[in-house]
Amino acid sequence: MDSYEKVHEYLSRLGLTTIENTIDSYLETSHDRPFMEILDHLLSEELKHKISRKTENMLKWSGFPFHKTMDDFDFSFQPSIDRSVIDELMTMRYIHNNENVVFLGPPGVGKTHLSIALGMRSIMSDIPAYYISAVKLVQTLKRDYDLKRLEYRIKTYSRFKLMIVDEIGYLPLTREESNLFFQFVSSRYEKRSTIYTSNKSFSEWGEVLGDSVMAAAVLDRILHHCTVINIKGESYRLKDRKKNSLQTMRKE
Ligand SMILES: Nc1ncnc2c1ncn2[C@@H]1O[C@H](COP(=O)(O)OP(=O)(O)OP(=O)(O)O)[C@@H](O)[C@H]1O
Ligand SMILES: [Mg+2]
Repeated sequence: MDSYEKVHEYLSRLGLTTIENTIDSYLETSHDRPFMEILDHLLSEELKHKISRKTENMLKWSGFPFHKTMDDFDFSFQPSIDRSVIDELMTMRYIHNNENVVFLGPPGVGKTHLSIALGMRSIMSDIPAYYISAVKLVQTLKRDYDLKRLEYRIKTYSRFKLMIVDEIGYLPLTREESNLFFQFVSSRYEKRSTIYTSNKSFSEWGEVLGDSVMAAAVLDRILHHCTVINIKGESYRLKDRKKNSLQTMRKE
């Protein structure tokens, strides 16, 4: 094997696929540059691709229902949201401190959007995040409890420094489901960050969890280190619908 073949073989075995694919054409135009400059260029391209591949994979496994960012959010439509609180969350200090975030508010005000935007921010900084609806979470916990692998499931979730549990309150939980939810909340308490969203105020969580003592224990843990964002406003979905119906009225 000559040096050319050997270099390609090394690059392939080392998994440096970007360099392997680009080195020939790059050297054709840049072979007279200083060696360190060439190495600098090739390695930085490899790293860039590796990061974007990793980000892509993290996004794929995140379970996010859509990929929207903070830039896609129209804050002027939702003036009850304090922008400085969102800016603080975007620094991701809450993740490093294992703190929680709760978004409360009626349908369509952007609870899921803002949660996903924080999740996207986390993934872009190389911190994996995982989204799950509250219903799916308790279904999964219940199935794994029945299969005697609840501990394994909870350990799997704890790999995620950030989890988003969306839509607490849309369906009331049975006593058993509430108990499993409590175990989930406890497992993350002061160890991992979780974003929760709900259309129900905290005083209604007793009904949601079917037991006021259980709800108090859950809330005590969630709220101990937590940023609560209570969104009071109109549904963004409704805004689009109003606009469309106005257009239809004008056409008629
Ligand atoms: N202020 C906003 N700017 C831009 N898009 C918004 C805004 N608020 C909501 N949206 C969009 O409107 C839709 C509904 O928002 P979202 O799903 O976040 O609402 P939600 O509060 O989670 O409602 P629900 O309780 O019904 O789940 C989404 O497509 C979201 O991207
Ligand atoms: Mg939602």
